[in-house]
Amino acid sequence: MIIAPSLLAANPGRLAAEAARATRAGADWLHVDIMDGHFVPNLTFGPAIVRAVRAATRLPLDVHLMCSRPEILLELFREAGASGLTVHVELGQRVAHLLWKIRALGARVGLAVNPPTPIAAARPFLKSIDLLLVMTVNPGFGGQEFIAETVPKIQQARAWRRELKLAYRIEVDGGINFQTVAECARAGADTFVSGTTLFQARSLRRALQRLRTLARRHAAEPDAARTGAAAGVLVST
Ligand code: DX5
Ligand code: ZN
Repeated sequence: MIIAPSLLAANPGRLAAEAARATRAGADWLHVDIMDGHFVPNLTFGPAIVRAVRAATRLPLDVHLMCSRPEILLELFREAGASGLTVHVELGQRVAHLLWKIRALGARVGLAVNPPTPIAAARPFLKSIDLLLVMTVNPGFGGQEFIAETVPKIQQARAWRRELKLAYRIEVDGGINFQTVAECARAGADTFVSGTTLFQARSLRRALQRLRTLARRHAAEPDAARTGAAAGVLVST
Protein backbone atom coordinates (compact mmCIF):
# COMPACT_ATOMS: atom_id res chain seq x y z
CA MET A 1 0.00 0.00 0.00
CA ILE A 2 1.29 3.40 -0.88
CA ILE A 3 0.19 6.50 0.98
CA ALA A 4 0.93 9.77 -0.81
CA PRO A 5 0.23 12.99 1.10
CA SER A 6 -0.86 15.76 -1.27
CA LEU A 7 1.21 18.93 -0.95
CA LEU A 8 -1.81 20.96 -2.04
CA ALA A 9 -3.03 20.75 1.55
CA ALA A 10 0.34 21.61 3.10
CA ASN A 11 1.29 25.04 4.39
CA PRO A 12 2.07 26.89 1.11
CA GLY A 13 4.46 29.24 2.88
CA ARG A 14 6.84 26.43 3.80
CA LEU A 15 6.53 23.65 1.26
CA ALA A 16 10.07 22.31 1.62
CA ALA A 17 9.62 21.98 5.40
CA GLU A 18 6.24 20.32 4.86
CA ALA A 19 7.79 17.84 2.43
CA ALA A 20 10.42 17.02 5.05
CA ARG A 21 7.70 16.67 7.70
CA ALA A 22 5.74 14.21 5.54
CA THR A 23 8.94 12.25 4.93
CA ARG A 24 9.68 11.99 8.65
CA ALA A 25 6.08 10.98 9.28
CA GLY A 26 6.52 7.90 7.08
CA ALA A 27 4.95 8.84 3.73
CA ASP A 28 5.71 6.54 0.78
CA TRP A 29 5.37 9.13 -2.01
CA LEU A 30 4.58 12.81 -2.12
CA HIS A 31 1.75 13.82 -4.43
CA VAL A 32 2.22 17.14 -6.23
CA ASP A 33 -0.78 18.68 -8.02
CA ILE A 34 0.04 20.86 -11.01
CA MET A 35 -2.91 23.02 -12.10
CA ASP A 36 -2.73 25.38 -15.06
CA GLY A 37 -5.78 27.63 -14.63
CA HIS A 38 -7.26 26.16 -17.83
CA PHE A 39 -7.76 22.41 -17.52
CA VAL A 40 -8.99 23.21 -14.01
CA PRO A 41 -10.02 26.59 -12.57
CA ASN A 42 -7.05 26.89 -10.21
CA LEU A 43 -3.29 27.45 -10.31
CA THR A 44 -0.64 25.73 -8.23
CA PHE A 45 3.04 24.85 -8.62
CA GLY A 46 5.61 25.25 -11.40
CA PRO A 47 8.87 23.33 -11.95
CA ALA A 48 10.85 25.63 -9.63
CA ILE A 49 8.68 24.60 -6.70
CA VAL A 50 9.02 20.93 -7.61
CA ARG A 51 12.79 21.39 -7.68
CA ALA A 52 12.73 22.93 -4.20
CA VAL A 53 10.59 20.06 -2.90
CA ARG A 54 12.90 17.54 -4.61
CA ALA A 55 15.80 18.96 -2.61
CA ALA A 56 13.86 18.58 0.65
CA THR A 57 12.97 14.87 0.43
CA ARG A 58 14.18 11.54 -0.89
CA LEU A 59 10.60 10.36 -1.46
CA PRO A 60 9.33 9.71 -4.97
CA LEU A 61 7.43 12.74 -6.29
CA ASP A 62 4.12 11.70 -7.82
CA VAL A 63 3.38 14.63 -10.13
CA HIS A 64 -0.26 14.93 -11.25
CA LEU A 65 -0.65 17.26 -14.22
CA MET A 66 -4.09 18.85 -14.46
CA CYS A 67 -2.99 20.78 -17.50
CA SER A 68 -4.33 21.31 -21.01
CA ARG A 69 -0.91 21.17 -22.67
CA PRO A 70 1.29 18.73 -20.75
CA GLU A 71 3.41 18.24 -23.88
CA ILE A 72 5.23 21.48 -23.09
CA LEU A 73 5.65 20.64 -19.40
CA LEU A 74 6.64 16.98 -19.08
CA GLU A 75 10.33 17.49 -19.64
CA LEU A 76 10.47 20.50 -17.33
CA PHE A 77 8.86 18.61 -14.46
CA ARG A 78 10.95 15.51 -15.06
CA GLU A 79 14.12 17.61 -14.94
CA ALA A 80 12.84 19.29 -11.79
CA GLY A 81 12.72 15.90 -10.10
CA ALA A 82 9.36 14.27 -10.80
CA SER A 83 9.53 10.48 -10.32
CA GLY A 84 6.15 9.81 -11.86
CA LEU A 85 4.12 11.93 -14.27
CA THR A 86 0.36 11.53 -14.61
CA VAL A 87 -1.68 13.04 -17.44
CA HIS A 88 -5.44 13.03 -17.99
CA VAL A 89 -7.30 10.75 -20.38
CA GLU A 90 -9.65 13.68 -21.14
CA LEU A 91 -6.92 15.04 -23.46
CA GLY A 92 -8.17 12.52 -26.02
CA GLN A 93 -6.12 11.98 -29.15
CA ARG A 94 -2.93 13.26 -27.57
CA VAL A 95 -2.86 10.70 -24.76
CA ALA A 96 -0.93 7.93 -26.54
CA HIS A 97 1.85 10.33 -27.47
CA LEU A 98 1.97 11.84 -23.97
CA LEU A 99 2.31 8.41 -22.36
CA TRP A 100 5.07 7.51 -24.77
CA LYS A 101 6.85 10.74 -23.96
CA ILE A 102 6.69 10.10 -20.20
CA ARG A 103 8.11 6.62 -20.78
CA ALA A 104 10.90 8.08 -22.90
CA LEU A 105 11.76 10.49 -20.08
CA GLY A 106 12.26 7.49 -17.79
CA ALA A 107 9.49 8.41 -15.37
CA ARG A 108 6.65 6.28 -14.05
CA VAL A 109 3.74 6.57 -16.48
CA GLY A 110 0.38 7.62 -15.01
CA LEU A 111 -3.06 8.12 -16.53
CA ALA A 112 -5.90 9.90 -14.69
CA VAL A 113 -9.66 9.63 -15.23
CA ASN A 114 -12.05 12.34 -14.01
CA PRO A 115 -15.33 11.42 -12.28
CA PRO A 116 -17.61 12.20 -15.27
CA THR A 117 -15.37 10.29 -17.73
CA PRO A 118 -16.21 6.60 -18.24
CA ILE A 119 -13.39 4.29 -17.15
CA ALA A 120 -13.63 2.69 -20.61
CA ALA A 121 -11.75 5.73 -21.93
CA ALA A 122 -8.63 4.39 -20.18
CA ARG A 123 -8.98 0.83 -21.51
CA PRO A 124 -6.90 1.31 -24.71
CA PHE A 125 -3.93 2.58 -22.70
CA LEU A 126 -3.69 0.02 -19.91
CA LYS A 127 -0.73 -1.79 -21.43
CA SER A 128 1.24 1.45 -21.62
CA ILE A 129 0.89 2.62 -18.02
CA ASP A 130 2.34 1.99 -14.56
CA LEU A 131 -0.46 3.72 -12.67
CA LEU A 132 -4.14 4.38 -13.24
CA LEU A 133 -5.46 7.32 -11.22
CA VAL A 134 -9.19 7.14 -10.56
CA MET A 135 -10.19 10.66 -9.52
CA THR A 136 -12.65 10.48 -6.65
CA VAL A 137 -13.46 14.22 -6.78
CA ASN A 138 -13.58 16.67 -9.67
CA PRO A 139 -10.03 18.01 -9.81
CA GLY A 140 -9.15 21.60 -8.97
CA PHE A 141 -9.38 21.92 -5.21
CA GLY A 142 -8.49 20.07 -2.04
CA GLY A 143 -10.96 19.38 0.75
CA GLN A 144 -13.86 18.21 -1.42
CA GLU A 145 -16.25 15.41 -0.62
CA PHE A 146 -15.55 11.92 -1.98
CA ILE A 147 -17.80 10.96 -4.91
CA ALA A 148 -18.99 7.41 -4.12
CA GLU A 149 -20.17 6.82 -7.71
CA THR A 150 -16.50 6.46 -8.71
CA VAL A 151 -16.03 3.22 -6.71
CA PRO A 152 -17.22 0.86 -9.50
CA LYS A 153 -14.47 2.36 -11.69
CA ILE A 154 -11.87 1.14 -9.18
CA GLN A 155 -13.43 -2.34 -9.32
CA GLN A 156 -13.32 -2.29 -13.11
CA ALA A 157 -9.67 -1.18 -13.09
CA ARG A 158 -8.85 -4.11 -10.85
CA ALA A 159 -10.83 -6.61 -12.96
CA TRP A 160 -8.99 -5.47 -16.10
CA ARG A 161 -5.65 -5.71 -14.36
CA ARG A 162 -6.30 -9.32 -13.46
CA GLU A 163 -7.78 -10.24 -16.86
CA LEU A 164 -4.92 -8.71 -18.81
CA LYS A 165 -2.24 -9.84 -16.33
CA LEU A 166 -0.95 -6.31 -15.92
CA ALA A 167 0.67 -4.68 -12.90
CA TYR A 168 -0.34 -1.02 -12.95
CA ARG A 169 -1.06 0.55 -9.58
CA ILE A 170 -4.59 1.77 -8.90
CA GLU A 171 -4.48 5.20 -7.28
CA VAL A 172 -7.35 7.20 -5.80
CA ASP A 173 -7.26 10.96 -5.26
CA GLY A 174 -9.78 13.27 -3.63
CA GLY A 175 -11.75 13.09 -0.40
CA ILE A 176 -9.72 10.17 0.96
CA ASN A 177 -10.26 10.00 4.73
CA PHE A 178 -10.52 7.30 7.42
CA GLN A 179 -13.88 6.13 6.05
CA THR A 180 -13.39 6.35 2.29
CA VAL A 181 -9.94 4.72 2.37
CA ALA A 182 -11.54 1.41 3.38
CA GLU A 183 -14.14 1.59 0.63
CA CYS A 184 -11.46 2.26 -1.99
CA ALA A 185 -9.15 -0.49 -0.69
CA ARG A 186 -12.00 -3.03 -0.83
CA ALA A 187 -12.66 -2.03 -4.42
CA GLY A 188 -9.01 -2.58 -5.36
CA ALA A 189 -7.11 0.68 -4.83
CA ASP A 190 -3.52 0.24 -3.62
CA THR A 191 -2.23 3.82 -3.79
CA PHE A 192 -3.92 6.54 -1.78
CA VAL A 193 -3.51 10.29 -2.20
CA SER A 194 -4.70 12.29 0.78
CA GLY A 195 -4.35 16.01 1.41
CA THR A 196 -6.67 17.54 3.99
CA THR A 197 -6.99 14.41 6.15
CA LEU A 198 -3.22 14.15 6.57
CA PHE A 199 -1.97 17.73 6.66
CA GLN A 200 -4.77 18.99 8.90
CA ALA A 201 -4.30 16.15 11.37
CA ARG A 202 -2.88 16.98 14.80
CA SER A 203 -0.25 14.28 14.19
CA LEU A 204 0.63 13.66 10.54
CA ARG A 205 2.52 10.53 11.53
CA ARG A 206 -0.42 9.00 13.36
CA ALA A 207 -2.88 9.93 10.61
CA LEU A 208 -0.60 8.32 8.03
CA GLN A 209 -0.30 5.16 10.09
CA ARG A 210 -4.04 5.02 10.55
CA LEU A 211 -4.72 5.41 6.82
CA ARG A 212 -2.17 2.71 6.04
CA THR A 213 -3.58 0.29 8.61
CA LEU A 214 -7.10 0.78 7.26
CA ALA A 215 -5.94 0.39 3.65
CA ARG A 216 -4.15 -2.87 4.54
CA ARG A 217 -7.00 -4.22 6.61
CA HIS A 218 -9.52 -3.71 3.82
CA ALA A 219 -7.21 -4.54 0.90
CA ALA A 220 -8.84 -6.46 -1.93
CA GLU A 221 -5.67 -8.48 -2.47
CA PRO A 222 -2.08 -8.73 -1.19
CA ASP A 223 0.12 -5.95 -2.48
CA ALA A 224 3.62 -7.43 -2.32
CA ALA A 225 4.22 -8.22 -5.98
CA ARG A 226 3.31 -4.81 -7.29
CA THR A 227 5.00 -2.83 -4.53
CA GLY A 228 8.41 -4.21 -5.52
CA ALA A 229 8.06 -3.53 -9.23
CA ALA A 230 6.43 -0.13 -9.09
CA ALA A 231 8.50 1.20 -6.22
CA GLY A 232 11.67 0.17 -8.03
CA VAL A 233 10.87 2.45 -10.96
CA LEU A 234 10.27 5.31 -8.58
CA VAL A 235 13.48 5.15 -6.59
CA SER A 236 15.47 6.56 -9.50
CA THR A 237 14.58 10.21 -9.96
C1 DX5 B 1 -7.64 17.55 -6.40
C2 DX5 B 1 -6.23 17.06 -6.29
C3 DX5 B 1 -5.96 16.25 -5.08
C4 DX5 B 1 -6.14 16.97 -3.77
C5 DX5 B 1 -6.73 16.00 -2.78
O1 DX5 B 1 -7.76 18.29 -7.56
O2 DX5 B 1 -5.91 16.27 -7.44
O3 DX5 B 1 -4.66 15.66 -5.13
O4 DX5 B 1 -4.94 17.49 -3.24
O5 DX5 B 1 -7.02 16.68 -1.62
P1 DX5 B 1 -8.01 16.12 -0.51
O6 DX5 B 1 -7.40 14.88 0.05
O7 DX5 B 1 -8.05 17.25 0.47
O8 DX5 B 1 -9.32 15.86 -1.17
ZN1 ZN C 1 -3.93 15.04 -7.44
